[in-house]
Amino acid sequence: MKNNKKLLKKAAAAVLVSTLTVVSLPFSAFAYGEKEVQGDESKVADNTVEFQTWRDNVWWGGENASSDSGKIALTPGADESDLNFAWYSNDKGTPAVMIWKDGQKSEAAVVKGTATEISAENWQGSTYAASNKVCIEDYFEENTQYYYQYTDNYSENGNVEWSAEYSYKTGSSSSFSVILTGDPQIGASGSSSDYSAQDASTARDTYGWNKTVTTAMQIAPDAAFLLSAGDQINQSGATSSDDLKTRESEYAGYFYPEAFRSLPVASTIGNHDTAGVDYTNHFNNPNISDNLGATEAGSDYYFSYGDVLFISLNSNNRNQEEHRQLMNKAVESNPDAKWRVVIFHSDIYGSGEPHADTDAATNRIIFAPLMDEFDVDICLTGHDHTYSRSYMILDGNVIDYDLSSGTVTNPEGTLYITTGSGSGSKYYNLLKYTPYYIAERTNDTVPAFSTIEFTDDSLTLKNYDYNGNTYADSFTINKTSENASVEDVIADAEAKLADTTVEYTEESVDKLKTSLDSLKTIQAAYTTAEDKMIDDITENYGTDNDRIKGYGSIVNNEDKDVLADGSTANRLKQGESSLLDKTIYSQLQQGEVVADAVLPVVSAETLESAKTAVVNAIAGLTVKQDTAAPDSTTGGADGESSPDTGDSMTRIFIFASALVVSLGTVFVILRKREEENC
Ligand SMILES: [Fe+2]
Ligand SMILES: [Fe+2]
Repeated sequence: MKNNKKLLKKAAAAVLVSTLTVVSLPFSAFAYGEKEVQGDESKVADNTVEFQTWRDNVWWGGENASSDSGKIALTPGADESDLNFAWYSNDKGTPAVMIWKDGQKSEAAVVKGTATEISAENWQGSTYAASNKVCIEDYFEENTQYYYQYTDNYSENGNVEWSAEYSYKTGSSSSFSVILTGDPQIGASGSSSDYSAQDASTARDTYGWNKTVTTAMQIAPDAAFLLSAGDQINQSGATSSDDLKTRESEYAGYFYPEAFRSLPVASTIGNHDTAGVDYTNHFNNPNISDNLGATEAGSDYYFSYGDVLFISLNSNNRNQEEHRQLMNKAVESNPDAKWRVVIFHSDIYGSGEPHADTDAATNRIIFAPLMDEFDVDICLTGHDHTYSRSYMILDGNVIDYDLSSGTVTNPEGTLYITTGSGSGSKYYNLLKYTPYYIAERTNDTVPAFSTIEFTDDSLTLKNYDYNGNTYADSFTINKTSENASVEDVIADAEAKLADTTVEYTEESVDKLKTSLDSLKTIQAAYTTAEDKMIDDITENYGTDNDRIKGYGSIVNNEDKDVLADGSTANRLKQGESSLLDKTIYSQLQQGEVVADAVLPVVSAETLESAKTAVVNAIAGLTVKQDTAAPDSTTGGADGESSPDTGDSMTRIFIFASALVVSLGTVFVILRKREEENC
């Protein structure tokens, strides 16, 4: 049962240490390729003849594709019956999308949107005066083929210049797959021709990115949408006109794949995207009206698709409370979601050398507790340009489920994925040690992507390179029942014991108390002591007293970890954050791996059996015969009844009536939206 809750933060250190052990983790970190990235290899995507031919004849050639920064981009709407659109145009008019079911163009609907005035240009000389956005709501059905056209300047007098026709096909919303990519970071491969119309790096990275997306669509042709884990583009500066032109040329590369005319993209804001408003102008994200977790580029948002809730956080914003508010709203808006998926850019449990235990670890303090608090099933990140998959992690602890079969069922904790490079524009080395929380990692220097398949009772991650070869192991989380978390079980038990309206037998109450004490002792032992750094980060975010700058860098030298050679690492020193003490300094001292380290690993078997004992004790509560009501809600003494979780659910049904106005034309105006955001 998923409930919002805050973890206990009062575990005594002595109790904690008593349960941490020198461990041999149950599944060694097998990797498809761990390699030392050398010299140019760190930023070489594809220099094949095939690439050069495409570059000269297509990207810079007859199709003149590199000049188009305004290609239409689809984005998931608030749920599977909605779809959002955004594109640039040379002039500002009234944007609209015409949509129809296959074979029913005569009954097409036209949905008007809004245009925001912009002034954008790229190195190829294209200029844009408007960012156009259209939202189509409550329209799409499952397993249906649609087509659409769009226009920058809709007019009801019939003189409308429509785009070419594009297709959009829906599948099942109860069983579907999505594509996951990270850090295409178009332009990051770098070249001597940066800041020019024929920039070799943008061409090279676009080619790799297009090949990745094309291959992904061959492997998952019915994918519902693509999740893009940030750093869509490389040019992080957004102040000078040259930088802005470069960003637009890179966006031309990002949106180049033809698949994106039919495949929605749910992106999150990377550190390279965050400085400019161009991200907001290019993407039409759903549920952004609260503007929580915002930076200049945009904010957190969420949407649902079938039984899955997707939440995108802007990890450039370090205000934990704002992210919590957004997650609360998302969860409350989708109380029945079976799966919770969160995506943000910073890899908080990754394995890449530049970031994983430095700036990204700073962000761990902010975001990891939220994944626990909201019972997130899988957390998708980027930033490291290397792939990693974690063990199941709860409050910084590995819960040591046996993952040797590539599956886990009804687990506690969150699975953390860090994506590799989606385009090949830049590769990073892996950390020289394997963090205790990493189950698998690889940094093979080939562009990569993942697919995630959702069914009613499973979530399966598969990993490929852009040639379609397997890039890393597959992994499945099964959810066979409404598996209550440790916190839920404890809360349920405490509610039963506090309930004075029913009198249970002493024996059954004692059994519950004993099992509850055992579970709470285990929970207290793995719970992190209160982290004083989170309040410091949240309260001082963006002020002169902020000890963090940029994307997680430590401002003051005296706050940094000092290594054995006297240099410093860009991470908070030991003693500043209890979560970092637990998740970094239990394994590293002065930058060196501690021999026989005592690591935060919890026995899954012990935890699950303690939890089961409480669940059974709740079910076994026996009402005293002389006070029992004939149809008591309690379970029988045999312990086989399902526990009453004590939850009640209020269902609010909102009935909407639709007003259909026939205009006597082949088009029906479904909706006229004048709001700035959909
Ligand atoms: Fe990146
Ligand atoms: Fe990044």
